[in-house]
Amino acid sequence: MSSFSPDSFGVIGLGRMAQALLFPLLASGLLPPAGVRAAVASQASAERLRAERPELAVSTEAAEAWGCAVALLAVKPQQLEAVAAAAPAPAAGEPPLLISVLAGVTVARLQALFPGHRIVRAVPNTPCLVGAGLTGLAWGEGVSAAQRAWVLQLFARVGEVLELPETQLDAFLALTSSGPAFVALVAEALADGAVAAGLPRQQALHLAGRTLAGSAALLEQQQLHPAQLKDMVSSPGGTTIAGIRALERGGLRSALIEAVLAAAERSRQLG
Ligand SMILES: NC(=O)c1ccc[n+]([C@@H]2O[C@H](COP(=O)([O-])OP(=O)(O)OC[C@H]3O[C@@H](n4cnc5c(N)ncnc54)[C@H](OP(=O)(O)O)[C@@H]3O)[C@@H](O)[C@H]2O)c1
Repeated sequence: MSSFSPDSFGVIGLGRMAQALLFPLLASGLLPPAGVRAAVASQASAERLRAERPELAVSTEAAEAWGCAVALLAVKPQQLEAVAAAAPAPAAGEPPLLISVLAGVTVARLQALFPGHRIVRAVPNTPCLVGAGLTGLAWGEGVSAAQRAWVLQLFARVGEVLELPETQLDAFLALTSSGPAFVALVAEALADGAVAAGLPRQQALHLAGRTLAGSAALLEQQQLHPAQLKDMVSSPGGTTIAGIRALERGGLRSALIEAVLAAAERSRQLG
């Protein structure tokens, strides 16, 4: 297999998601900052990013980012048409790779908007920022084995990577990309409960976060089914089962199921 080692990496839209990917990749040494060309929409964002990350070339002109061997596209889906209309056609030669993280936007639509590129559709999540991410990948036509290997190792630097049929990516996004917000809501609500029960706010927030992290570690390290962990903690006539009864009365499970379904549906709509 011939190797693929791009010397330049463009970012079109260096917002929250692109930063959650790019900054750990720079820290890991996989991407040298000198090869990065980033574009944002506003002067204010460009100036703020240049102040925070003086080693990066950040511009409101996307031409240089588009000229790179690999470009990460991370604008909002609503901004896609305008970005595509302004994108220059790639130079002759090996087609550059375009990695899109736009929610719901299909490989077929990306291929139609950026005909001179090889397309990768990626669904990363914000825990990439701390190396605990999840990324789902689907490949467009013509992405070589060497390019796939490079993209896989890129996302592996920031977490776990899964290659999925594209039809599953909306469900994957609903769980893994929207999921951190759902979990954050649970953490905040648990802390509210602890405040209601008498703990100080800061301590309640800290303990809620540690309880979520500890429970996740236990589930993962001991390969427990969630029901096993629930049963481990619920003694007959005890405190936990009293709380679970209240959760069931409040419809927690149904609310979470509907939240994931709503996010998947919205992802399809955005596409
Ligand atoms: N957040 C997540 O967990 C997550 C997960 C998976 C996928 N995604 C996807 O990631 C994408 C970005 O989301 P986000 O939360 O990172 O949004 P965001 O923080 O609003 O970032 C969007 C970025 O795009 C820039 N931009 C807008 N129009 C542009 C243009 N014409 N040329 C160049 N740059 C332009 C913005 O610049 P300004 O700052 O100047 O406006 C900003 O830097 C979305 O498509 C979303 O579906 C997000």
